[in-house]
Amino acid sequence: MHVAHLSLQDFRSYATAEVPLEPGVTAFVGPNGQGKTNLVEAVGYVATHGSHRAATDAPLVRQGAPRAIVRAGVVKDDRKALIELEINPGRANRARLNRSPVPRPREILGMVRTVLFAPEDLALVKGDPGERRRFMDELLTARAPRFAGVRADYERVLKQRNALLKSAAAHRRAPGAEVLATLDVWDSHLARTGAELLAARLDLVAGLRPLVARAYEALAPNGGAADLIYKSSLGAAELSTDRAQLAEQLLAGVGEARKQELERGVSLVGPHRDELVLRLGELPARGYASHGESWSFALGLRLAAFDLLRADGDDPVLILDDVFAELDAGRRRRLAGMVAPAEQVLITAAVPADVPGELTGASFTVSGGQVVRD
Ligand SMILES: Nc1ncnc2c1ncn2[C@@H]1O[C@H](COP(=O)(O)OP(=O)(O)OP(=O)(O)O)[C@@H](O)[C@H]1O
Ligand SMILES: [Mg+2]
Repeated sequence: MHVAHLSLQDFRSYATAEVPLEPGVTAFVGPNGQGKTNLVEAVGYVATHGSHRAATDAPLVRQGAPRAIVRAGVVKDDRKALIELEINPGRANRARLNRSPVPRPREILGMVRTVLFAPEDLALVKGDPGERRRFMDELLTARAPRFAGVRADYERVLKQRNALLKSAAAHRRAPGAEVLATLDVWDSHLARTGAELLAARLDLVAGLRPLVARAYEALAPNGGAADLIYKSSLGAAELSTDRAQLAEQLLAGVGEARKQELERGVSLVGPHRDELVLRLGELPARGYASHGESWSFALGLRLAAFDLLRADGDDPVLILDDVFAELDAGRRRRLAGMVAPAEQVLITAAVPADVPGELTGASFTVSGGQVVRD
């Protein structure tokens, strides 16, 4: 699929912007702070209903404006659709598909699929486990939008269960039978929704492993093998991807942890405590990999995500925000060769020289709030 038109109203620095797009490579070039990333962030927002660099929607709305609107005309298998998202910070967002309101924005998740690589992705390698959990869960949602619901369910269960544990911990004496019975109920909810998330993540990681190894090898041929290991908070237990079995294992796990959980007042077992360990050769990437290696590993994760989504039958839009300037000449050339066949690639760069010559296509100059086709 590809985006044929992007239209913004009060999104980030733009009062308005109209950007016609084509399949193939499009580069947005201009000095720092001119609004290049804002454009590709908007495309990412249409796909994920979130930003890769803001935890909430508020910063996406132009300073002083009440709301932002992002419209994208998309083309998939020669069929056109118009998606419109209205961003209302602090209130419910609204969505329209082909000008008709949809009951909930979540229902049009998955209409546009993107894989976005940005400097913030360095945190995938160097950051907390939460960054890598989010990577997995967002990819699950991109592949099967119903995971937005699974994630929301799990978050809700976790929040309620933590509230109960916290109040029990605050009382500093053995919890009564009523509290324990309520906790039993939350345990089973946690096991059931947690198992669904865990099974999907295990399956995802199995699919990603060879793709990440291949992408990293292609980017950095002499760089050692990249690998992923899913490390569950259930400890060393052998994990299958059978949901019923995982639910039993989670239930046993929270049972064992109960005393400690009641003391500490938080849920200590479940997918929210799991880690995706990234390895480069014999060493963990986190804490060991060089800056360039970390950058290439993060890029390898995104390229693997692209391959996985592509294997589902449709190319996602590939977005590369400020990537090439960070890479040496060899990696730059190899990356250009890898991304060139994608149906649509959107690139941002501060100077034209940062767009590799192999990637010919349209280019826009972004400056002073204007996006002008060269
Ligand atoms: N909500 C907002 N309202 C108004 N302006 C905003 C808002 N959010 C961001 N900006 C402005 O947008 C500009 C940043 O745009 P953007 O991140 O797209 O720059 P860029 O062209 O990608 O720059 P760089 O080359 O440094 O990455 C900043 O000047 C910032 O102040
Ligand atoms: Mg930028």
